[in-house]
Amino acid sequence: MRVSISLGGSLLKDLEAFRRYADVLRRLKAKGHRIVVVCGGGRRAREFIAQARSLGASEELQDRVGILVTHLNALLLIAALGEDADPRVHRRSSDVKRHMDDKIIVGGGHLPGSSTDYRAVLFARAIGAELIVNATDYGGVFDKDPSKHPDAMKYDHLTYDELERIIRSRFEQRPGDYGLFDLKAVRLAKRLGIPIVFVDGTDPEEIIRAVEGGHSGTVVSD
Ligand code: UTP
Repeated sequence: MRVSISLGGSLLKDLEAFRRYADVLRRLKAKGHRIVVVCGGGRRAREFIAQARSLGASEELQDRVGILVTHLNALLLIAALGEDADPRVHRRSSDVKRHMDDKIIVGGGHLPGSSTDYRAVLFARAIGAELIVNATDYGGVFDKDPSKHPDAMKYDHLTYDELERIIRSRFEQRPGDYGLFDLKAVRLAKRLGIPIVFVDGTDPEEIIRAVEGGHSGTVVSD
């Protein structure tokens, strides 16, 4: 299967994490899946963006700071993947299409005003992906914030429109904080009709199950 993975920066917190996700991506590749993975910026991006904001940076400049951090994470993932990765950090869909061979393609952010989630959907379109996986440190989409409400309920399935309404009502969309998922990314995935699976990437096996079945996250489709 052709799969585009948005790997949340919150997951890429230490060396061990880079090794674990590299291992999972390698296993997917060995099973014959074609993988594009876009790295988020995580805590480091938020710290740099907050510093830029304190120094008076415009939103565009804050985004450019965040983009650089996503590229640093992508370079570390490329290092962990070694021979299995294309050595370039990809930012343009046209390049991804051209370089999609037997290597895992690793991407980072590109333009201000969006997040790596949007890149992952653009790359999905470029490679003709059948699935987009959004791996983060929370397992799926909930009816309320599970960190504050122990009785929060996870959705097994949502439509794109339902996901859009949830993001609009409960999450930010600004530099360093594209909460849950980037709205532009939801709309594009809807136009393309590519399902998005939200999984808890703190268990790397969930990424394999998101592709092969049996995950316990949330599926977003029509
Ligand atoms: P992320 O994709 O990690 O954003 O990019 P996020 O969803 O806010 O954070 P995670 O997923 O929890 O890690 C980090 C920041 O880089 C900028 C945005 O400011 C974003 O918040 N960025 C990233 C862009 O402006 N354009 C891009 O294409 C990618």
